[in-house]
Amino acid sequence: MTPAHRIKTLTQFIVERQAQYPHAKGALTRLLNDIATAAKIVNREINAAGLVDILGYEGSDNIQGEAQKKLDVYANERFIEALKGGGECCAIASEENEKIISFQNEFSDLGKYVIAIDPLDGSSNIDANVSIGTVFSIYRRRSESGPGVLEDMLQPGVNLVAAGYVIYGSSTMLVYTTGKGVNGFTLDPSVGIFCLSHPDMRFPETANIYSINEGNYIYFPEGIKRYLKYCQEDDPATLRPFTSRYIGSMVADFHRNLIKGGIFMYPGTKKQPSGKLRLLYECNPVAFIAEQAGGKASDGIRRIMEIQPKTLHQRAPFFVGPKAMVEKVEVLLKTYSSEELHIK
Ligand code: AHG
Ligand code: MN
Ligand code: MN
Repeated sequence: MTPAHRIKTLTQFIVERQAQYPHAKGALTRLLNDIATAAKIVNREINAAGLVDILGYEGSDNIQGEAQKKLDVYANERFIEALKGGGECCAIASEENEKIISFQNEFSDLGKYVIAIDPLDGSSNIDANVSIGTVFSIYRRRSESGPGVLEDMLQPGVNLVAAGYVIYGSSTMLVYTTGKGVNGFTLDPSVGIFCLSHPDMRFPETANIYSINEGNYIYFPEGIKRYLKYCQEDDPATLRPFTSRYIGSMVADFHRNLIKGGIFMYPGTKKQPSGKLRLLYECNPVAFIAEQAGGKASDGIRRIMEIQPKTLHQRAPFFVGPKAMVEKVEVLLKTYSSEELHIK
């Protein structure tokens, strides 16, 4: 077999998977393709970000005559445009928009899906040429007809139909799940096609990485402080001391930990009891992928995917990674922080 025959594109892969469901009409296939298309456009812009100064775009008009925009605003516009144009979804919730954006397709029936998205995750890293991402959740709408409404968005992670992320790193990858395992596709920039490169992704058996913003140490609950000490103890049998790695882009931190084995943590603190990350479009999609890869995602007490969201931008403490690591954090939180966190 020549190498060319071994290549499987994202589109081929999705179509083959959908063919296993005789009643599927291809809507999810088209939706994922719309997301991949927007990701490629955003990828192109990210790659050119370092040229902005020398080409004199900033503060002036770009070639299309548009004023230069911040990349997270640009990414938001591209994803909204692609999803609206595709006609398969009836509403979007985005980190960049206070309220949901609901629309209806002029040409056909309304889409039956809704999307929650963080169009650019880790945006503070853009200027430093460090990996960033996009992360998205796909739900089936709850309302019967008409433009999507808030209630369509406020669904727990257990209702997810699909979720994924794009990492714009040393190469660009799209990783997604529809609840039947996790698959990763690497963008071949020469032809602009995502190719299956990481089939059936699983957390490795051995794990020794922990990722947390340790600068917040003094604000952490006692259980987390104890876990960090545990990570730093000398015990070669359990691979300790663990290695500390923190990029500051959740998507990139999680992706590395999925490949190499590690836990990502963003705890709540006294000042911010719910932490920083957003349930709908940061925690839930990553939790779905983690569970499908054999791992676990928790807010320290509850399974992330079982939390019923009350508001669009609500936050949750977030612990995600191999099961044993997340369970260790849960035990220490229960033992040392049950009063401060009101754990029963
Ligand atoms: P965003 O760029 O979408 O606002 O997300 C940033 C998030 C997440 O990606 C990252 O893990 C976390 O913020 C980093 O926060 P700290 O700088 O507080 O560590
Ligand atoms: Mn983010
Ligand atoms: Mn963001």
